[in-house]
Amino acid sequence: MNHPGSTQLASASPAKASSPWAEVGVNHPHESARLHVLGQATYTDDVPELQGTLHAALGLSAKPHAKIAAIDLAPVLASTGVVAVYTAKDIAGTNDCGPIIHDDPILADGLVQYVGQPVFIVVADTHDNARRAARLAKISYDELVPILTPQAAKAAASYVLPPMRLARGDSEQAFKAAPHTVKGELYVGGQEQFYLEGQIAYAIPKEDQGMLVLCSTQHPSEMQHVVAHALGLLSHKVVVECRRMGGGFGGKESQSALWAAASAIAASKLNRPVKLRADRDDDMLVTGKRHCFYYEYEVGYDKDGRIIAAKVDMVSRAGFSADLSGPVATRAVCHFDNTYYLSDVEIRAACGKTNTQSNTAFRGFGGPQGAIAIEYVIDEIARALGKDAYDIRRLNFYGKQDRNVTPYGQTVADNIIHELTAELEATSDYRARRKAIADFNANSPVLKKGLAFTPVKFGIAFNVTHLNQAGALVHVYVDGSIMVNHGGTEMGQGINTKVMQVVAHELGVDLARVRASATDTSKVANTSATAASTGADLNGKAAQDAARHIRDRLAALAVKLYGGEVDKVIFAHNTISTNGHQVPFAELVQKAYLARVQLWSDGFYATPGLSWDPKTMNGNPFSYYAYGAAVAEVVVDTLTGEWKLLRADALYDAGRSLNPAIDIGQVEGAFIQGMGWLTTEELWWNAGGKLMTHAPSTYKIPGISDCPEDLRVKLFNNSNVADSIHRSKAVGEPPLLLPFSVFFAIRDAISAVGGHKIQPPLNAPATSEEILKSISAVEAAMAMTGAA
Ligand code: MTE
Ligand code: HPA
Ligand code: MOS
Repeated sequence: MNHPGSTQLASASPAKASSPWAEVGVNHPHESARLHVLGQATYTDDVPELQGTLHAALGLSAKPHAKIAAIDLAPVLASTGVVAVYTAKDIAGTNDCGPIIHDDPILADGLVQYVGQPVFIVVADTHDNARRAARLAKISYDELVPILTPQAAKAAASYVLPPMRLARGDSEQAFKAAPHTVKGELYVGGQEQFYLEGQIAYAIPKEDQGMLVLCSTQHPSEMQHVVAHALGLLSHKVVVECRRMGGGFGGKESQSALWAAASAIAASKLNRPVKLRADRDDDMLVTGKRHCFYYEYEVGYDKDGRIIAAKVDMVSRAGFSADLSGPVATRAVCHFDNTYYLSDVEIRAACGKTNTQSNTAFRGFGGPQGAIAIEYVIDEIARALGKDAYDIRRLNFYGKQDRNVTPYGQTVADNIIHELTAELEATSDYRARRKAIADFNANSPVLKKGLAFTPVKFGIAFNVTHLNQAGALVHVYVDGSIMVNHGGTEMGQGINTKVMQVVAHELGVDLARVRASATDTSKVANTSATAASTGADLNGKAAQDAARHIRDRLAALAVKLYGGEVDKVIFAHNTISTNGHQVPFAELVQKAYLARVQLWSDGFYATPGLSWDPKTMNGNPFSYYAYGAAVAEVVVDTLTGEWKLLRADALYDAGRSLNPAIDIGQVEGAFIQGMGWLTTEELWWNAGGKLMTHAPSTYKIPGISDCPEDLRVKLFNNSNVADSIHRSKAVGEPPLLLPFSVFFAIRDAISAVGGHKIQPPLNAPATSEEILKSISAVEAAMAMTGAA
């Protein structure tokens, strides 16, 4: 197919490779794939334990909001194998692990604020003995009134941060002029990260108060600082290392801190290595999740379905402390527009303080929660006008020359949503299938099919500007092998593979010559979390910078030895060519060593052009946008609420993908994970504020049988207009929004019950129970109106 937009972009921004070598844009397998499959990849718990290692467990609050009247820890201490018990008063430094606002105690000190809040650390000879002992404390509480939902938090004006507001134009006036309005409310539930490897930290005391912490974390530098503060040490005494995680999904961006700090506190007290590995139930009870959101919206539109005024008021469930709720809400505000131009708009967001786990980052980081609200509204506009929702979507898309400024003032300079959706419309056979589904439904009273086409635009960069920086170290050893260390962490997403590809490409060698080391705070300092989908963007650029320094030095040496010009030296095929001479890479490296040329280098990168004013909520928070779209077809059994995803087509804009195979894997994974969020994954707290869905027995993530047999994922042919690493685009989070299509396909199938005349109320997750409730509401409305 011919895509005028993408062709234009490609030629407008020639992504000329720095050398004819091409190790980027290649489908290399994940650098650890072999080890993963063989069970030989080392996770924190696989590191051989040092002699004298002890094991810790956390004693948890049983009440959602209470003053601790008394704690009797004698039974804990008397339990088999127990070595020590620590409470808040034993913390030498600061009792805080909050990433931004310091409202997050490591151990509750007098006040408990959710069921599951850690109150004490017990250390024993074995993991099991520690866990058994942790249950034996006798804690008496003076109970306080808890707030358990975001709606209740809003009613009580109970917030962890001041509410935020972004407005453009004059929505009051625009509403007056609007011929139609749609008004309503929506609730979208949260989501457990469900990384397969749970939270874990292994703290090993070193000489002179030093502490080495092996930790499953997306943010080693933050862990270093939290541990140093908790122990009352300078940061240079603490080293944090992470070889890899068995998934993070945002859950280990800030909330690995509790585990790192608790293990280090115990290790420091006892001067012995201490491992703290969360059992799954504890992990789910203790740690924060994706924020659920409650929305009240009102949108005015014209006879064609074009939005002319929009107002939304959202409140999230922040939990008991701020954690990352502020930046999450900011991202929700900046994604309410999704792919649509909203001229006159007012967006409010608040972070409800509730007596529940402190919610945190989860793939998409508020973006999905912002965008799903406008998609819900568009779905309603289409039904009200009797039109295909896809056509209403297209009508409202951002323009290229006009209607191209976001509510927060950033110009959408790289808009390809028109071309991308046109391609997907054709390849998914959308129009014909829409018709076939209408025919099917006309003759099928019980089973109803639904179809939906949803687009995505996602801003890439940390929305906290200073976090957009990264560093790397590249070492070339005298045998010509290469080690790269960078500030990013590997959680399965393939950052190491991509960064290795960038380095191999720069130095003109095969990928096999390059190895990535574990992330280590003693190598690159002050790193940002591997988050906001920027890991490969930032660390790839930093590693490229480091490799370029070495390449320049090698090129200078080659010219000195063989003649030619420095900028004409070619690095490719493990060979360096200059002035008609060809010298193997390893040979030139040997010569460089003997000539005392520095064969290692650091590298640094800071994303240019970013700005953000949190007061006005205006600026250029994003480096560029990633786009995508998906079409989903479902069948719903209207008697049981069961449903199945029959087919899904997804088209994603990874720019010039660094590794298409890895990127397609990311899109597939995000699609299924997002589908779980919107359908089967339901978090449920009982009246006492205890999360009852704290294990896979009650919390349903998608299994292999929930994946559609027909899943067609493609990458859109594009090149980043921003000068990103080899003109690629981020892929980690944006595809999580693609399964909006599944949610709206389910809503479409329900809507068929009422002949598409009635708006089915549908909150997320659309569990079978929620689907049946929605069908009942449609049937009740039909009975009222006498509709067929
Ligand atoms: N993919 C795997 N396999 N495991 C993960 O934990 N986390 C996601 C995404 N893809 C994740 C993943 C999240 S939340 C982010 S922000 C990005 O990966 C982070 O990695 P990147 O910036 O290198 O893409
Ligand atoms: N994503 C993830 N983590 C963050 C962000 C973001 O946009 N901003 C601050 N921390
Ligand atoms: Mo991802 S939620 O930014 O770790």
